Amino acid sequence: FAFTPLNQKWAEAQMTKFPEGRQASAVIPLLWRVQEQEGWISQPALEAVADMLGMAYIRVLEVATFYFMFQLQPVGSVAHFQVCGTTSCMICGAEDLIGVCKEKIAAQPHAISADGKFSWEEVECLGACANAPMVQIGKDFYEDLTTERFAEIIEEFSAGKVPTPGPQNGRYAAEPLGGAT
Ligand code: FES
Repeated sequence: FAFTPLNQKWAEAQMTKFPEGRQASAVIPLLWRVQEQEGWISQPALEAVADMLGMAYIRVLEVATFYFMFQLQPVGSVAHFQVCGTTSCMICGAEDLIGVCKEKIAAQPHAISADGKFSWEEVECLGACANAPMVQIGKDFYEDLTTERFAEIIEEFSAGKVPTPGPQNGRYAAEPLGGAT
């Protein structure tokens, strides 16, 4: 693994933000940049980050495995769907969304669809419980999903479009919290 020259420069700049001897504090931004560059974080990439930061490999692995935002195996080339399976989403239909994933993407979480475009997994609460059930795709939340709308979203990604994120049923705060002034 190697960062692109631009990302390498960016990573070195991150490391200078911390006092001498505390470069390990840059581990999360560096891992995140690896994932943005590669789509996922391989073992050689973990080792490279450990070398850059003067950390033991196991310490970097501990961080990378703690947060489910980090993908430690390859994901679909177009989108990786993170389906919230915690209480609110489960009550509101997460299992049905997982059923759509199994039908349209792959039978098992973390497996890649036959066309290479998609993968999925179930994750813990993403903090959007009021708009359950929801799925995170990249950095975006798709909320208030029905199985029909979720299937459409997968189709739209497959066709090269990027569906509009946010609540999918039109429910949205038209006014800032506290109402109009
Ligand atoms: Fe799904 Fe909180 S339970 S976002």
